Amino acid sequence: MSKLFDIVLWGATGFTGQLVAEYLAQNVGDSVRWAIAGRNQEKLEKLRESLAIPNLPILIGDSHDQQSMDAIVAQTRVVCSTVGPYTLYGTPLVAACAAQGVDYCDLTGETLWMRQIIDTYQAQAEQSGARIVHCCGYDSIPSDLGTLVLQEHAQAVYGRSCHEVQYISWAASGGFSGGTIASLLNVLEETKGNKTKAKLMANPYNLVPEREPDWSQTDQDSARYDEATRVWTGPFMMASINSRIVRRSNALLGWRYGEDFRYNESMKMPNRAAATAFSASYKLGIGAMMALPVRGLVDKALPSPGEGPSVEIREKGFFKSKLVGKTTPSTSSGTTSTSSGTTSTDSGTTSTGSVTLIGEVSDNLDPGYGSTAKMLGESALCLAFDDIPQRGGILTPASAMGMTLVNRLRQAGMTFKPET
Ligand SMILES: NC(=O)c1ccc[n+]([C@@H]2O[C@H](COP(=O)([O-])OP(=O)(O)OC[C@H]3O[C@@H](n4cnc5c(N)ncnc54)[C@H](OP(=O)(O)O)[C@@H]3O)[C@@H](O)[C@H]2O)c1
Repeated sequence: MSKLFDIVLWGATGFTGQLVAEYLAQNVGDSVRWAIAGRNQEKLEKLRESLAIPNLPILIGDSHDQQSMDAIVAQTRVVCSTVGPYTLYGTPLVAACAAQGVDYCDLTGETLWMRQIIDTYQAQAEQSGARIVHCCGYDSIPSDLGTLVLQEHAQAVYGRSCHEVQYISWAASGGFSGGTIASLLNVLEETKGNKTKAKLMANPYNLVPEREPDWSQTDQDSARYDEATRVWTGPFMMASINSRIVRRSNALLGWRYGEDFRYNESMKMPNRAAATAFSASYKLGIGAMMALPVRGLVDKALPSPGEGPSVEIREKGFFKSKLVGKTTPSTSSGTTSTSSGTTSTDSGTTSTGSVTLIGEVSDNLDPGYGSTAKMLGESALCLAFDDIPQRGGILTPASAMGMTLVNRLRQAGMTFKPET
């Protein structure tokens, strides 16, 4: 059945939703049939006016009203959602997409909710052909597609994959929005005092239900030195989300990176003392956030839903992450080489022929909003128009869109190295 729209942007009035609307308004032509959707007609009309597209269609619904979700989904080929916390608002929309075979992408980083979606809708989405893709923003595209790019390079140049990848958040500047804070606090609230949920949250394979937990791959919580890049690192806040997505990608790609593939995320620190101090305060900080009096202060001090970093902060923002991969050893002796046409260097080999590869993902916009709007907007366009695998299910950026999305994002100004 032919649909009225290619893409419906659900939650277009929110802080991030407006940025995605601006991204689409600036980057798609008349041939793309898209609409903005939300719960407030007046706000949507104001947004349409600011976008200067007088004939841009508006759809109205409520996240908790299944009928309205079904009706919106029935009109489009792809839904792009920025309505969060997704644990509170996201399920009816995903249910409608899974039932109707409609593609979907979002910005959730709520792993317990994603696990619930996998447990409930994987089989139905496989059957209907709906490609449900979570984590299409700063979490987890740099990690997920950065790892894919490094693995593709390792395969193309060395004929084997990396058995280990270390993602290092090298530098970043930006801010947080109210919706992100609300989502983070909601996750902490959910796991507080609930041992089963806390254990599931900590499970490195919590998004691969068929796989036993591998407690040897827990998230980094202390200072470590990275030999390849010669920096000290400490814990990275997004690791508990991104690493789960990368592992699910590996599983959905038929264990393309290997069943014993190891993945870790960390953040670059100026020196050992800073890494040690940051690691200690990171653990204390997470504990403190769970304590009610501190939670009250956090609620007051940080942006409320609808608010976020200023234009100035966003325009000055940027991010750069490095990925260090180590290939499985080869039986023949290895060679030292430099990746073609990039500054990324495949450095040194060991006597067993294991090669160390260094990749990079970066953008010259703030990670959480400017760059995220680009990543989510391009994901929606990729689902709507590109030649990507037809398989339905609860997917990840790498398993659903892979190198096709990497190429789109490169065209849109993001850097992914090495280029193979
Ligand atoms: N992965 C990433 O890198 C990344 C980056 C940025 C944001 N995010 C996530 O994106 C989500 C949104 O963040 P944000 O700061 O943009 O949030 P926000 O400004 O608070 O916007 C939330 C949106 O949800 C809508 N909404 C709330 N309740 C609704 C309901 N019952 N029915 C329909 N719509 C409803 C709001 O509509 P009204 O305008 O009518 O209130 C608004 O459009 C959060 O979960 C955040 O964590 C992730």
